Amino acid sequence: MMYEQIQETANWLKTKMPSHPTTAIILGTGLGRLAEEISVTMSIDYKDIPHFPISTVEGHTGRLIFGKLGDKDILAMQGRFHYYEGYSMQEVTFPIRVMYELGIKTLFVSNASGGTNPDFSIGDMMVLTDHINYFPEHPLHGPNFPTGPRFPDMHATYDKELIQLADEIAKEKGIKLQHGVYLGTQGPTFETPAEYRMFRIFGADAVGMSTVPEVIVAHHCNIRVFGISIITDLGVEGKILEVSHEEVQKAANAVQPVMADLMREMIKRSAL
Ligand code: HPA
Repeated sequence: MMYEQIQETANWLKTKMPSHPTTAIILGTGLGRLAEEISVTMSIDYKDIPHFPISTVEGHTGRLIFGKLGDKDILAMQGRFHYYEGYSMQEVTFPIRVMYELGIKTLFVSNASGGTNPDFSIGDMMVLTDHINYFPEHPLHGPNFPTGPRFPDMHATYDKELIQLADEIAKEKGIKLQHGVYLGTQGPTFETPAEYRMFRIFGADAVGMSTVPEVIVAHHCNIRVFGISIITDLGVEGKILEVSHEEVQKAANAVQPVMADLMREMIKRSAL
């Protein structure tokens, strides 16, 4: 039973963890640089953690890090589990349930995405104000977990105060920040022009292959969520070019220093 596995994993980690962080970060595409700024007190490969799935995609390492960012204790996931890799939604969101058991109260998530908003440029950072769940399987499918209600409200999934804080910091530092709706799709294909058009009509500003499952589960656990995306390519009519994983990585890498700057400051100033 999954609930027992979560307990076992959490209990195993509790006997080893050197600190009790309330802030967690999923270091997705774009936050690799931030990882380098963490003073690591303990790092465990996913493969050594009981019941943890193992990350397989190139450019994504798989380890759980306990450490400090500035003077703040944090828990960081370096590498996440994508649905397109073949994991079930239960596996994709397993680490979030473990985080909850460990006492995490705030979650920062980053990703790379294709912009469908015609006002966006490659290299823009977009704060997630909302999302559209376009995955074929729901992460809360099945018996309800006692961490939240059977029918969770989703009207304010992305924490308004954290969005405001991001805007304040961006203003101070002269960082350009977009706001928008992230649509999460299963991948692994990038979109056809017709699909980008459809997602734009749906109300998406950006499309990607992650984040939504983890955010839904975090929200169900009453964890505050802040999400940010790097626009690495454009799904806008007339601007659509061939996309590859390498180009996505390259565009994301270029933005890393600014992203790290913003996130470091956010984690420093977000109370709890
Ligand atoms: N579509 C889906 N996922 C992505 C994209 C995209 O255009 N860019 C980066 N991740």
